[in-house]
Amino acid sequence: MRIKSSTKQRVLRMRRCKELDPVKRLVSRLGNQQHIRIAREFLRRMPDLHLKDLVVDAVDPQRRMQINGQWLCNFGSDSYLGFDWHPRVQARLAEAAGEWGLHNGASRMFHSVRLAQEAERSLADWLEVEDTLIFPSVTLANTGLIPALAGRGDLLVVDQHAHNSIQESAKIAIGNRARLRKLHPSTGTSLRKLLRGEDTTGLVLATDGVYSMEGTSPPLAELVQITKEHGGICYIDDAHATAVIGPRGRGMAYQCLGSLKEVLVVGSLSKGFSCMGAFVTCTSELKPLLKMKSNTYIFGGPVPPPYLAAVCEVCDILDSVEYDLILDQLRDRITHLVKGLHSIGYTTLSGTQSPVVSVPIGDIEQTLLVGRRLYDRGLYVQSVTYPAVPFNCGLIRILVNAIHPPESIDLLLNALSDLWPQIQTYK
Ligand SMILES: Cc1ncc(COP(=O)(O)O)c(C=O)c1O
Repeated sequence: MRIKSSTKQRVLRMRRCKELDPVKRLVSRLGNQQHIRIAREFLRRMPDLHLKDLVVDAVDPQRRMQINGQWLCNFGSDSYLGFDWHPRVQARLAEAAGEWGLHNGASRMFHSVRLAQEAERSLADWLEVEDTLIFPSVTLANTGLIPALAGRGDLLVVDQHAHNSIQESAKIAIGNRARLRKLHPSTGTSLRKLLRGEDTTGLVLATDGVYSMEGTSPPLAELVQITKEHGGICYIDDAHATAVIGPRGRGMAYQCLGSLKEVLVVGSLSKGFSCMGAFVTCTSELKPLLKMKSNTYIFGGPVPPPYLAAVCEVCDILDSVEYDLILDQLRDRITHLVKGLHSIGYTTLSGTQSPVVSVPIGDIEQTLLVGRRLYDRGLYVQSVTYPAVPFNCGLIRILVNAIHPPESIDLLLNALSDLWPQIQTYK
Protein backbone atom coordinates (compact mmCIF):
# COMPACT_ATOMS: atom_id res chain seq x y z
CA MET A 1 0.00 0.00 0.00
CA ARG A 2 1.30 3.51 -0.88
CA ILE A 3 1.44 5.96 2.01
CA LYS A 4 0.98 9.61 1.08
CA SER A 5 4.17 11.63 1.61
CA SER A 6 2.53 14.07 4.10
CA THR A 7 1.36 11.11 6.20
CA LYS A 8 4.85 9.63 5.96
CA GLN A 9 6.36 12.87 7.20
CA ARG A 10 3.94 12.98 10.08
CA VAL A 11 4.76 9.39 11.04
CA LEU A 12 8.47 10.15 10.85
CA ARG A 13 8.01 13.30 12.95
CA MET A 14 6.05 11.35 15.55
CA ARG A 15 8.67 8.61 15.64
CA ARG A 16 11.43 11.18 16.07
CA CYS A 17 9.37 12.91 18.72
CA LYS A 18 8.87 9.70 20.69
CA GLU A 19 12.63 9.21 20.77
CA LEU A 20 13.08 12.53 22.57
CA ASP A 21 12.83 12.86 26.35
CA PRO A 22 9.51 14.35 27.61
CA VAL A 23 10.87 17.86 28.22
CA LYS A 24 12.45 18.03 24.76
CA ARG A 25 9.18 16.76 23.30
CA LEU A 26 7.32 19.53 25.13
CA VAL A 27 9.80 22.14 23.85
CA SER A 28 9.26 20.87 20.33
CA ARG A 29 5.46 20.92 20.67
CA LEU A 30 5.32 24.43 22.16
CA GLY A 31 7.86 25.70 19.64
CA ASN A 32 5.46 24.72 16.85
CA GLN A 33 2.62 26.82 18.21
CA GLN A 34 1.72 29.86 16.12
CA HIS A 35 2.17 32.45 18.88
CA ILE A 36 5.71 31.25 19.61
CA ARG A 37 6.61 30.90 15.94
CA ILE A 38 5.63 34.53 15.30
CA ALA A 39 7.57 35.77 18.37
CA ARG A 40 10.66 33.78 17.32
CA GLU A 41 10.45 35.07 13.77
CA PHE A 42 10.52 38.64 15.09
CA LEU A 43 13.44 37.84 17.35
CA ARG A 44 15.30 36.32 14.40
CA ARG A 45 14.57 39.23 12.06
CA MET A 46 15.09 42.01 14.59
CA PRO A 47 17.35 40.70 17.35
CA ASP A 48 18.44 44.19 18.42
CA LEU A 49 15.01 45.80 18.49
CA HIS A 50 13.08 43.64 20.86
CA LEU A 51 14.34 44.91 24.26
CA LYS A 52 12.36 42.39 26.28
CA ASP A 53 13.60 40.11 29.06
CA LEU A 54 16.29 42.66 29.97
CA VAL A 55 18.46 42.10 33.03
CA VAL A 56 18.98 45.11 35.31
CA ASP A 57 22.26 45.19 37.23
CA ALA A 58 21.67 48.27 39.38
CA VAL A 59 19.09 51.01 40.06
CA ASP A 60 19.16 54.40 41.76
CA PRO A 61 16.63 56.73 43.49
CA GLN A 62 16.38 58.93 40.37
CA ARG A 63 14.64 56.01 38.68
CA ARG A 64 17.62 55.08 36.56
CA MET A 65 18.74 51.53 35.86
CA GLN A 66 21.92 49.93 34.60
CA ILE A 67 21.79 47.34 31.83
CA ASN A 68 24.92 45.90 30.20
CA GLY A 69 26.98 48.71 31.72
CA GLN A 70 24.69 51.48 30.34
CA TRP A 71 22.69 53.75 32.70
CA LEU A 72 19.16 54.49 31.43
CA CYS A 73 16.33 56.74 32.65
CA ASN A 74 13.65 54.17 33.39
CA PHE A 75 10.22 55.16 32.07
CA GLY A 76 8.92 51.62 32.48
CA SER A 77 8.27 51.51 36.23
CA ASP A 78 4.74 51.54 37.63
CA SER A 79 6.05 52.43 41.08
CA TYR A 80 4.47 55.80 40.33
CA LEU A 81 5.04 57.65 43.59
CA GLY A 82 8.53 56.34 44.24
CA PHE A 83 7.62 54.83 47.62
CA ASP A 84 10.09 52.04 46.87
CA TRP A 85 12.78 54.62 47.78
CA HIS A 86 10.90 56.38 50.58
CA PRO A 87 12.98 56.24 53.80
CA ARG A 88 9.93 55.70 56.05
CA VAL A 89 8.55 52.89 53.90
CA GLN A 90 11.94 51.19 53.64
CA ALA A 91 12.54 51.53 57.41
CA ARG A 92 9.11 50.12 58.31
CA LEU A 93 9.64 47.15 56.00
CA ALA A 94 13.08 46.41 57.47
CA GLU A 95 11.77 46.76 61.04
CA ALA A 96 8.90 44.35 60.36
CA ALA A 97 11.31 41.85 58.78
CA GLY A 98 13.24 41.85 62.07
CA GLU A 99 10.08 41.45 64.12
CA TRP A 100 8.10 38.97 61.98
CA GLY A 101 10.65 37.30 59.71
CA LEU A 102 10.28 37.28 55.96
CA HIS A 103 7.27 35.02 55.59
CA ASN A 104 4.61 33.44 57.73
CA GLY A 105 4.28 30.44 55.44
CA ALA A 106 0.63 29.36 55.56
CA SER A 107 -2.60 30.04 53.73
CA ARG A 108 -4.49 32.82 55.50
CA MET A 109 -7.36 30.40 55.84
CA PHE A 110 -5.38 28.90 58.76
CA HIS A 111 -3.95 32.04 60.29
CA SER A 112 -2.89 35.58 59.41
CA VAL A 113 -0.39 37.81 61.15
CA ARG A 114 -1.96 40.72 63.03
CA LEU A 115 -0.38 43.04 60.44
CA ALA A 116 -2.79 41.70 57.79
CA GLN A 117 -5.76 42.96 59.83
CA GLU A 118 -4.01 46.25 60.50
CA ALA A 119 -3.26 46.78 56.80
CA GLU A 120 -6.85 45.88 55.82
CA ARG A 121 -8.17 48.36 58.40
CA SER A 122 -5.81 51.11 57.20
CA LEU A 123 -6.88 50.54 53.58
CA ALA A 124 -10.58 50.57 54.51
CA ASP A 125 -10.21 53.83 56.46
CA TRP A 126 -8.32 55.45 53.59
CA LEU A 127 -10.96 54.37 51.04
CA GLU A 128 -13.94 55.16 53.31
CA VAL A 129 -15.36 51.63 53.03
CA GLU A 130 -16.33 49.18 55.75
CA ASP A 131 -13.56 46.69 55.08
CA THR A 132 -11.00 45.32 52.64
CA LEU A 133 -9.45 41.91 51.98
CA ILE A 134 -5.82 41.55 50.89
CA PHE A 135 -4.59 39.16 48.19
CA PRO A 136 -0.97 38.52 47.10
CA SER A 137 -1.47 40.21 43.70
CA VAL A 138 -4.17 41.72 41.50
CA THR A 139 -3.97 38.70 39.22
CA LEU A 140 -4.66 36.40 42.17
CA ALA A 141 -7.44 38.68 43.44
CA ASN A 142 -9.14 38.57 40.03
CA THR A 143 -8.61 34.84 39.60
CA GLY A 144 -10.01 34.13 43.05
CA LEU A 145 -12.82 36.67 43.16
CA ILE A 146 -14.41 36.70 39.70
CA PRO A 147 -15.27 32.98 39.67
CA ALA A 148 -16.41 33.38 43.28
CA LEU A 149 -18.82 36.18 42.37
CA ALA A 150 -20.19 34.70 39.13
CA GLY A 151 -21.01 31.02 39.49
CA ARG A 152 -23.35 28.52 37.89
CA GLY A 153 -26.08 30.24 35.88
CA ASP A 154 -24.91 33.78 36.75
CA LEU A 155 -24.34 36.36 34.02
CA LEU A 156 -20.76 37.61 33.84
CA VAL A 157 -20.19 40.57 31.52
CA VAL A 158 -16.51 41.25 30.86
CA ASP A 159 -15.15 44.38 29.24
CA GLN A 160 -13.22 43.03 26.26
CA HIS A 161 -10.60 45.68 26.85
CA ALA A 162 -10.02 44.80 30.52
CA HIS A 163 -6.76 43.31 31.77
CA ASN A 164 -5.69 39.82 30.78
CA SER A 165 -6.16 38.54 34.35
CA ILE A 166 -9.89 39.42 34.13
CA GLN A 167 -10.20 37.58 30.80
CA GLU A 168 -8.44 34.52 32.25
CA SER A 169 -10.60 34.63 35.39
CA ALA A 170 -13.67 34.62 33.16
CA LYS A 171 -12.50 31.32 31.66
CA ILE A 172 -12.57 29.77 35.14
CA ALA A 173 -16.04 31.23 35.71
CA ILE A 174 -17.23 29.65 32.43
CA GLY A 175 -15.78 26.35 33.65
CA ASN A 176 -18.07 26.78 36.68
CA ARG A 177 -21.00 27.32 34.26
CA ALA A 178 -21.36 31.09 34.52
CA ARG A 179 -22.77 32.69 31.36
CA LEU A 180 -20.17 34.95 29.78
CA ARG A 181 -20.83 37.96 27.53
CA LYS A 182 -18.09 40.25 26.25
CA LEU A 183 -18.67 44.00 26.28
CA HIS A 184 -17.27 45.84 23.27
CA PRO A 185 -17.03 48.77 22.94
CA SER A 186 -17.19 49.58 26.65
CA THR A 187 -19.96 52.15 26.45
CA GLY A 188 -23.30 52.57 28.17
CA THR A 189 -25.09 52.09 24.84
CA SER A 190 -23.43 48.77 24.10
CA LEU A 191 -24.05 47.57 27.68
CA ARG A 192 -27.77 48.39 27.43
CA LYS A 193 -27.93 46.58 24.08
CA LEU A 194 -26.08 43.57 25.48
CA LEU A 195 -28.37 43.28 28.50
CA ARG A 196 -31.60 43.70 26.50
CA GLY A 197 -33.48 40.43 26.65
CA GLU A 198 -30.79 38.72 28.78
CA ASP A 199 -31.60 36.87 31.96
CA THR A 200 -29.60 39.08 34.33
CA THR A 201 -29.67 36.70 37.28
CA GLY A 202 -26.44 37.09 39.25
CA LEU A 203 -25.17 39.87 36.98
CA VAL A 204 -21.53 40.90 37.51
CA LEU A 205 -19.81 43.39 35.20
CA ALA A 206 -15.99 43.26 35.32
CA THR A 207 -13.92 46.10 33.92
CA ASP A 208 -10.79 48.19 34.57
CA GLY A 209 -10.65 51.64 36.16
CA VAL A 210 -7.72 52.58 33.92
CA TYR A 211 -6.75 50.42 30.93
CA SER A 212 -3.18 49.34 31.49
CA MET A 213 -1.81 49.79 27.98
CA GLU A 214 -3.57 53.01 26.93
CA GLY A 215 -4.04 54.80 30.26
CA THR A 216 -7.65 55.60 29.26
CA SER A 217 -10.83 54.69 31.20
CA PRO A 218 -14.30 53.31 30.46
CA PRO A 219 -17.36 55.43 31.42
CA LEU A 220 -17.52 53.95 34.91
CA ALA A 221 -20.45 55.98 36.30
CA GLU A 222 -22.67 54.97 33.36
CA LEU A 223 -21.67 51.31 33.45
CA VAL A 224 -22.23 51.13 37.21
CA GLN A 225 -25.66 52.79 36.90
CA ILE A 226 -26.86 50.45 34.13
CA THR A 227 -25.56 47.37 35.92
CA LYS A 228 -27.33 48.49 39.08
CA GLU A 229 -30.60 49.04 37.19
CA HIS A 230 -30.38 45.41 36.07
CA GLY A 231 -29.85 44.18 39.61
CA GLY A 232 -26.12 43.51 39.22
CA ILE A 233 -22.83 44.72 40.66
CA CYS A 234 -19.68 46.18 39.07
CA TYR A 235 -16.25 44.76 39.77
CA ILE A 236 -13.54 47.29 38.92
CA ASP A 237 -9.84 46.52 38.64
CA ASP A 238 -8.37 49.92 39.51
CA ALA A 239 -4.75 48.76 39.65
CA HIS A 240 -3.22 51.70 37.77
CA ALA A 241 -5.23 54.37 39.62
CA THR A 242 -4.60 53.14 43.17
CA ALA A 243 -2.89 55.91 45.18
CA VAL A 244 -2.45 58.16 42.13
CA ILE A 245 -5.91 59.20 40.85
CA GLY A 246 -8.90 60.65 42.69
CA PRO A 247 -9.20 62.40 46.08
CA ARG A 248 -6.26 61.27 48.27
CA GLY A 249 -5.45 58.71 45.59
CA ARG A 250 -8.58 56.64 46.23
CA GLY A 251 -8.69 55.68 42.57
CA MET A 252 -10.58 56.23 39.35
CA ALA A 253 -13.71 54.45 40.62
CA TYR A 254 -13.89 56.75 43.65
CA GLN A 255 -13.33 59.78 41.45
CA CYS A 256 -16.14 58.79 39.05
CA LEU A 257 -18.61 57.49 41.63
CA GLY A 258 -17.89 59.65 44.69
CA SER A 259 -17.90 56.56 46.92
CA LEU A 260 -16.98 52.88 46.68
CA LYS A 261 -19.97 51.64 48.66
CA GLU A 262 -21.96 50.13 45.78
CA VAL A 263 -19.16 48.48 43.81
CA LEU A 264 -16.30 46.09 44.42
CA VAL A 265 -12.95 47.67 43.67
CA VAL A 266 -9.66 45.85 43.42
CA GLY A 267 -6.60 48.00 43.96
CA SER A 268 -2.93 47.28 43.62
CA LEU A 269 -0.45 47.38 46.48
CA SER A 270 2.43 46.97 44.05
CA LYS A 271 2.17 49.94 41.70
CA GLY A 272 1.35 53.28 43.39
CA PHE A 273 1.99 51.64 46.79
CA SER A 274 5.41 50.21 45.71
CA CYS A 275 4.81 47.29 48.10
CA MET A 276 3.29 43.94 47.16
CA GLY A 277 -0.22 42.57 46.81
CA ALA A 278 -3.76 43.77 46.13
CA PHE A 279 -6.99 44.43 48.02
CA VAL A 280 -10.68 44.25 47.33
CA THR A 281 -13.14 46.60 49.00
CA CYS A 282 -16.06 44.95 50.81
CA THR A 283 -18.49 45.22 53.69
CA SER A 284 -17.95 43.39 56.97
CA GLU A 285 -20.85 41.12 56.00
CA LEU A 286 -19.36 40.25 52.60
CA LYS A 287 -15.76 39.73 53.74
CA PRO A 288 -16.17 36.26 55.32
CA LEU A 289 -18.07 35.10 52.22
CA LEU A 290 -15.25 36.26 49.93
CA LYS A 291 -12.78 34.40 52.14
CA MET A 292 -14.86 31.23 51.91
CA LYS A 293 -15.35 31.42 48.15
CA SER A 294 -12.03 32.68 46.69
CA ASN A 295 -9.83 29.76 45.79
CA THR A 296 -6.65 31.80 45.51
CA TYR A 297 -7.24 33.08 49.05
CA ILE A 298 -7.90 29.60 50.40
CA PHE A 299 -5.26 27.64 48.52
CA GLY A 300 -2.53 30.29 48.07
CA GLY A 301 0.03 31.96 50.30
CA PRO A 302 -0.22 35.48 51.79
CA VAL A 303 1.60 38.79 51.36
CA PRO A 304 4.76 38.55 53.55
CA PRO A 305 4.56 40.51 56.85
CA PRO A 306 7.24 43.14 56.00
CA TYR A 307 5.16 44.25 53.01
CA LEU A 308 2.01 44.44 55.13
CA ALA A 309 3.84 46.79 57.48
CA ALA A 310 5.01 48.84 54.49
CA VAL A 311 1.38 49.08 53.27
CA CYS A 312 0.38 50.57 56.67
CA GLU A 313 3.18 53.11 56.33
CA VAL A 314 2.07 54.10 52.83
CA CYS A 315 -1.51 54.54 54.10
CA ASP A 316 -0.17 56.93 56.75
CA ILE A 317 1.65 58.91 54.05
CA LEU A 318 -1.48 59.03 51.86
CA ASP A 319 -3.21 60.74 54.76
CA SER A 320 -0.51 63.41 55.19
CA VAL A 321 0.49 66.71 53.57
CA GLU A 322 3.59 64.98 52.28
CA TYR A 323 1.36 63.02 49.93
CA ASP A 324 0.04 66.27 48.43
CA LEU A 325 3.59 67.30 47.67
CA ILE A 326 4.49 63.94 46.10
CA LEU A 327 1.31 63.96 44.03
CA ASP A 328 1.95 67.53 42.87
CA GLN A 329 5.38 66.39 41.76
CA LEU A 330 3.87 63.50 39.79
CA ARG A 331 1.21 65.76 38.22
CA ASP A 332 3.90 68.30 37.20
CA ARG A 333 5.93 65.57 35.50
CA ILE A 334 2.91 64.16 33.65
CA THR A 335 1.71 67.59 32.50
CA HIS A 336 5.21 68.62 31.39
CA LEU A 337 5.58 65.40 29.38
CA VAL A 338 2.13 65.45 27.79
CA LYS A 339 2.28 69.14 26.85
CA GLY A 340 5.80 68.67 25.48
CA LEU A 341 4.68 65.70 23.38
CA HIS A 342 1.71 67.63 21.99
CA SER A 343 3.90 70.62 21.12
CA ILE A 344 6.16 68.35 19.05
CA GLY A 345 3.11 66.95 17.26
CA TYR A 346 2.60 63.62 19.03
CA THR A 347 -0.80 62.30 20.03
CA THR A 348 -1.30 60.84 23.50
CA LEU A 349 -4.18 58.54 24.34
CA SER A 350 -5.06 59.83 27.81
CA GLY A 351 -5.10 63.29 29.42
CA THR A 352 -2.77 64.56 32.12
CA GLN A 353 -4.27 62.53 34.93
CA SER A 354 -2.97 59.07 34.23
CA PRO A 355 0.72 58.27 34.83
CA VAL A 356 0.45 55.88 31.86
CA VAL A 357 1.21 58.09 28.85
CA SER A 358 0.81 56.06 25.66
CA VAL A 359 1.85 57.39 22.27
CA PRO A 360 0.62 55.63 19.10
CA ILE A 361 3.48 54.82 16.71
CA GLY A 362 2.61 52.27 14.01
CA ASP A 363 3.34 48.67 13.08
CA ILE A 364 5.41 46.25 15.14
CA GLU A 365 8.73 47.04 13.52
CA GLN A 366 8.27 50.82 13.68
CA THR A 367 7.24 50.67 17.33
CA LEU A 368 10.19 48.48 18.30
CA LEU A 369 12.53 50.75 16.35
CA VAL A 370 11.42 53.87 18.24
CA GLY A 371 11.97 52.03 21.54
CA ARG A 372 15.46 51.06 20.36
CA ARG A 373 16.40 54.57 19.24
CA LEU A 374 15.39 55.94 22.65
CA TYR A 375 17.27 53.15 24.39
CA ASP A 376 20.42 54.06 22.47
CA ARG A 377 20.08 57.56 23.93
CA GLY A 378 19.83 56.24 27.48
CA LEU A 379 16.02 56.27 27.74
CA TYR A 380 13.94 53.19 28.40
CA VAL A 381 10.22 53.15 27.47
CA GLN A 382 8.03 50.13 26.78
CA SER A 383 7.34 49.32 23.14
CA VAL A 384 3.91 47.70 23.22
CA THR A 385 2.93 45.67 20.17
CA TYR A 386 0.47 43.00 19.08
CA PRO A 387 -1.04 41.01 20.83
CA ALA A 388 -1.07 43.47 23.79
CA VAL A 389 -2.64 46.03 21.41
CA PRO A 390 -4.36 45.49 18.03
CA PHE A 391 -2.17 44.67 15.01
CA ASN A 392 -0.38 47.73 13.56
CA CYS A 393 -1.48 49.86 16.56
CA GLY A 394 1.86 49.75 18.39
CA LEU A 395 2.46 52.22 21.21
CA ILE A 396 5.31 53.51 23.20
CA ARG A 397 4.12 53.37 26.79
CA ILE A 398 5.76 55.92 29.06
CA LEU A 399 5.23 55.45 32.79
CA VAL A 400 5.77 58.70 34.69
CA ASN A 401 7.01 58.61 38.28
CA ALA A 402 7.11 61.37 40.90
CA ILE A 403 10.83 60.71 41.41
CA HIS A 404 11.80 61.27 37.78
CA PRO A 405 14.04 64.34 37.73
CA PRO A 406 12.56 66.98 35.38
CA GLU A 407 15.80 66.72 33.35
CA SER A 408 14.96 63.10 32.52
CA ILE A 409 11.62 64.19 31.07
CA ASP A 410 13.44 66.87 29.03
CA LEU A 411 15.90 64.27 27.73
CA LEU A 412 12.98 62.10 26.64
CA LEU A 413 11.21 65.03 24.94
CA ASN A 414 14.41 66.05 23.12
CA ALA A 415 14.96 62.52 21.88
CA LEU A 416 11.34 62.20 20.73
CA SER A 417 11.58 65.58 19.02
CA ASP A 418 14.62 64.35 17.05
CA LEU A 419 12.70 61.20 16.08
CA TRP A 420 9.58 63.11 14.98
CA PRO A 421 10.55 63.48 11.25
CA GLN A 422 11.15 59.74 11.03
CA ILE A 423 7.88 58.93 12.82
CA GLN A 424 5.91 61.13 10.42
CA THR A 425 6.99 58.89 7.56
CA TYR A 426 5.03 56.07 9.29
CA LYS A 427 1.70 57.86 8.90
C1 LIG B 1 -5.34 46.47 35.19
C2 LIG B 1 -4.36 45.47 35.73
N1 LIG B 1 -4.80 44.46 36.48
C3 LIG B 1 -3.94 43.55 36.99
C4 LIG B 1 -2.57 43.61 36.76
C5 LIG B 1 -1.67 42.58 37.35
O1 LIG B 1 -1.28 43.01 38.62
P1 LIG B 1 -0.38 42.10 39.54
O2 LIG B 1 1.01 42.27 39.07
O3 LIG B 1 -0.58 42.63 40.93
O4 LIG B 1 -0.86 40.70 39.39
C6 LIG B 1 -2.07 44.65 35.99
C7 LIG B 1 -0.62 44.72 35.76
O5 LIG B 1 -0.03 45.62 35.32
C8 LIG B 1 -2.97 45.58 35.45
O6 LIG B 1 -2.54 46.56 34.67
